[in-house]
Amino acid sequence: MTPVKRINHIAIVVDEIEDALHFWRDALGLKVARVEEVPDQDSVVAFLSVGNMEIELVKPTSDENGIARYIKKRGPGIHHICFEVDDIKASLESLKAKSVRLINSEPVIGTSGKRFAFIHPESTYGVLVELYELPPK
Ligand code: CO
Repeated sequence: MTPVKRINHIAIVVDEIEDALHFWRDALGLKVARVEEVPDQDSVVAFLSVGNMEIELVKPTSDENGIARYIKKRGPGIHHICFEVDDIKASLESLKAKSVRLINSEPVIGTSGKRFAFIHPESTYGVLVELYELPPK
């Protein structure tokens, strides 16, 4: 496992971004960095800055995807924690060698060239964990 550098983001699923912002932006006072459509995940995401990490408020835009199913089953709440690593491929190999159950056994290429993979909650004491390797700047 290559070292975990920092928490990149914590994702929270919501059914309405504006309603959720009444707490996260207006009451708690976090700054909204941007709100983006993420078409490959059928969602709209509001990115809120907290120091060098972000809170992502994720609203599904389809009834079909995993996030929509998650809300239906459990209601809004924390969906996953994302850790940034230097070398995601090496990290996944090392996790596999330790019999950690992975959702993505190979890195997936996401928007803006970042690479990500999810670790199954069965191996993490109930927390969906995402790994990120950011593209070189
Ligand atoms: Co994420």
